[in-house]
Amino acid sequence: MSKINYKTILLKKNKEPISCLTAYSKPLACILDGRVDIILVGDSLGTTLYGMKNTRSVNLKMMMNHGKAVVSNTKTSMTIIDMPYKTYRNKKEALKNALDILSYTKADFIKIETDSKNIDIVRHLSNNKIKIVAHIGVTPQKFSDFSKIRSVGKNLNEIENLVNLAKKLENAGAKLIVLECMGMKASKKITNILKIPTIGIGASKYCDGQVLVIDDILNLNSNTNKPKFIKTYTNIEKNIIRAVKNFTKEVKNKKFPSKKQSY
Ligand code: KIV
Repeated sequence: MSKINYKTILLKKNKEPISCLTAYSKPLACILDGRVDIILVGDSLGTTLYGMKNTRSVNLKMMMNHGKAVVSNTKTSMTIIDMPYKTYRNKKEALKNALDILSYTKADFIKIETDSKNIDIVRHLSNNKIKIVAHIGVTPQKFSDFSKIRSVGKNLNEIENLVNLAKKLENAGAKLIVLECMGMKASKKITNILKIPTIGIGASKYCDGQVLVIDDILNLNSNTNKPKFIKTYTNIEKNIIRAVKNFTKEVKNKKFPSKKQSY
């Protein structure tokens, strides 16, 4: 299978929904590669992998290392890497950090959480030939306490503001736009108005594509409070627990290692 490019992704708008999942490591990159259109190395790795309370302590080095592990093991799918909290506060800082991430990882896109205050950053990075994914709606870096997160874009005023923001981000050069946790009227309107594809997470079927965090669809961490938009497709946690229990049992019974595993 040949590498998916941005033109292919653009052509999917209004034709075929785009699939996107997160990956933070080589094993998952290899599994997802070619099975989703886009792999996102999200800063959700802070909470899912590192057990942080929010994504604010994720730093550039973490995104670069996990990004490289994923991109260097991805041949077909396109790749996006998140810019962490406080690494794109002004044009100079954003450009330096985005270029550092891209030159180290060779990812296709950089994603930044956007609002009306940082549209100029999107324009600046785009003018410097960086493919930007804008992320609007609920933007997790704004929250130190995830239990305070509520869906947005549910009244006319909020819908209008989100639509205007999305239009401005497209004009500023964003190549894709992630819509997180927003009412379906808002996501439908944005998707219909924009020429660039929208990728939703908790933003209804009306988006051009869907993204979820891989740990959530696999049920890798059943302890966390999961938002309503998550669908669990398999219970990996159950399988791991079974395997771990069997391993411990065999170690205790001196059944493992057997002759087969010995030299
Ligand atoms: O960090 C992440 O995984 C994300 C998705 C939830 C869209 O930004």
